[in-house]
Amino acid sequence: MQNIFQGRSLLAEKDFTKDELMYLIDFAIHLKELKKKGVPHRYLEGKNIALLFEKASTRTRAAFTVAATDLGAHPEYLGKDDIQIGNKESVEDTAKVLGRMFDGIEYRGFKQGNAEVLAEHSGVPVWNGLTDEWHPTQMIADYMTLKENFGKLEGLTLVYTGDGRNNVANSLLVTGAILGVNVTIVTPESLFPDETVVNMAEGFAETSGAVIKITDNVKDGVRNADALYADVWVSMGEEDKFEERVKLLQPYQVNTEMLAATENDKTILLHCLPAFHDTKTDYGKMVESKFGISEMEITDEAFRSSQARQFDQAENRMHSIKAIMAATLGQLFIPRV
Ligand code: CP
Repeated sequence: MQNIFQGRSLLAEKDFTKDELMYLIDFAIHLKELKKKGVPHRYLEGKNIALLFEKASTRTRAAFTVAATDLGAHPEYLGKDDIQIGNKESVEDTAKVLGRMFDGIEYRGFKQGNAEVLAEHSGVPVWNGLTDEWHPTQMIADYMTLKENFGKLEGLTLVYTGDGRNNVANSLLVTGAILGVNVTIVTPESLFPDETVVNMAEGFAETSGAVIKITDNVKDGVRNADALYADVWVSMGEEDKFEERVKLLQPYQVNTEMLAATENDKTILLHCLPAFHDTKTDYGKMVESKFGISEMEITDEAFRSSQARQFDQAENRMHSIKAIMAATLGQLFIPRV
């Protein structure tokens, strides 16, 4: 019997059921334990994995590389300046070529449509390592981190604060709605999530019982949060928007005042990283010199607090990506979820 994940791509969370997402989260927790105990789990022995990156990455690239290697596969990094994709060769033709050589493809880029074309024409599983619309591999790690901290997911409340229209906000909304996690997006009205994403989340929430809330009111929005989630104010490809976002999003910064406003002393802090919590980066220095602030979406104090879990999240990227690749490519015995 073939497992229900075998041969499937992970392009967006909406394509997976609650039980399937839960299986991937629990499988990632299991693989984390195997890794810690030194138990081999080479489910992809002899496979070759293409890692296509049109945008920069630390976590996603490192996670796919280590996960593939632990699984016994060979990962090959193909950066945007290394191959012909989009410049001299269409995405469709690239997909057909890579599908003849590789057993699975990771794609990080701008257009969700490119991930879909790769999946349609390569004939092998394609895993979305981030597009402008969705960040599904991040979600398995994020909800895994929530489950590790609270022992459950259903009924928890996750509050995302910052740019409400970016890929992470989209993915948190839809994934939480599928899983039964209440998701609140706290953001200025001009950055409210796209209506289609909210409608999609509300559709899933009708089944799961999750409560979806979009608000520009920080105090009201963060009350009772089990997790406060921050992300960069300016996403990759939007570097001309620093001035606008710094002005707009300062009241939405995660700091000790916001933590107190949750009225919950067990609230954890999440951040998908990289984070601008000090001036030790080029962008951090630029923002300080131009706009006079030394911290953006999260203060250094909050980032280094005992409630912060961002480095657990970062580590979990590797375990969760391993679960995704093994489940979809490893011929595992998973008769049902
Ligand atoms: N969170 C995340 O996707 O990190 P990278 O951009 O470093 O891959």
